[in-house]
Amino acid sequence: MRALVRQSHLSSGDLIWPVFVRKGTGIEEPVPSMPGVMRRSVDKIVQAAHEAADLGIPALCIFPYTEQSDRTEDCAEAWSPDNLSNQATRAIKDALPDMVIMTDVALDPYNINGHDGFVENGEIVNDRTVAALVKMALAQADAGADIIGPSDMMDGRIGAIRTALEAAGHSNVSILSYSAKYASGFYGPFRDAVGASGALTGDKKTYQMDPANSDEALRLIERDLAEGADMIMVKPGMPYLDICRRAKDAFGAPTFAYQVSGEYAMMQAAAQNGWLDHDKVMMESLMSFKRAGCDGILTYFAPAAARLMGKDRWHAQ
Ligand code: PBG
Repeated sequence: MRALVRQSHLSSGDLIWPVFVRKGTGIEEPVPSMPGVMRRSVDKIVQAAHEAADLGIPALCIFPYTEQSDRTEDCAEAWSPDNLSNQATRAIKDALPDMVIMTDVALDPYNINGHDGFVENGEIVNDRTVAALVKMALAQADAGADIIGPSDMMDGRIGAIRTALEAAGHSNVSILSYSAKYASGFYGPFRDAVGASGALTGDKKTYQMDPANSDEALRLIERDLAEGADMIMVKPGMPYLDICRRAKDAFGAPTFAYQVSGEYAMMQAAAQNGWLDHDKVMMESLMSFKRAGCDGILTYFAPAAARLMGKDRWHAQ
């Protein structure tokens, strides 16, 4: 009876699994602040992609782990056809052409100061950054990415990337814009995972959103859709479910939430201490995104949740 009247449904098909790629071969290195999450060398990422496919997870989102010595002032590695992220995309696409690959567009993994854009005289410079992001997105599309995920929060980057993709013959490549991305404390473990924690000088408050604002999120989403975003994202997830609901109601566009590293870390930490039931809070948190109007969720829980659900929809306990 409960299944008959249930309003929201969750399945493995709703999940995008963020994965961290590092150099080397045969390496799976745990991220200390994210229990259960690994940095994987390209060969191991391909193995993870096979697992994802077997679990019915349709998409992976690739983030590169870089060391301080890989970071430069000009961030040139960001648009190198052979950077780690592009190597991983090619390797997965060769092995599993149907696995959807999402990539991250932002300079932070390659920037000497850990910021998503170029910094000049202590300020983020928007337009020079957008030109670099366009090159980065094109290199990702050339490598085979299906979904470009600009997470940098610069102004005008969606339109610039869309135009460049069209001109390069990549009209089938989608853009999932991190439209409403808040300057959040919940990104801490991610910055460890990608090696940015030590590098970051200052904070990202001049380009990421103030957690106090919600009308601004709607304006940014509207702008990104007008510039050609195919899908939009709210990030972080659980503290911003109200934004997910408002976004879905206002625009109806495909809406994603990113259940970020800190959300994952706090649930894992409590579960490891026996303070929360891991599977129950994992599934309840994922269902909350569906209830808030999201079409899908980026979550580090993707494999664990998919394993629990099998290929069926999730039925609450
Ligand atoms: C940066 C980026 C961040 C995340 C995804 N892309 C962190 C930041 O803005 O510093 C966070 C993801 C997470 O916390 O899980 N381009």
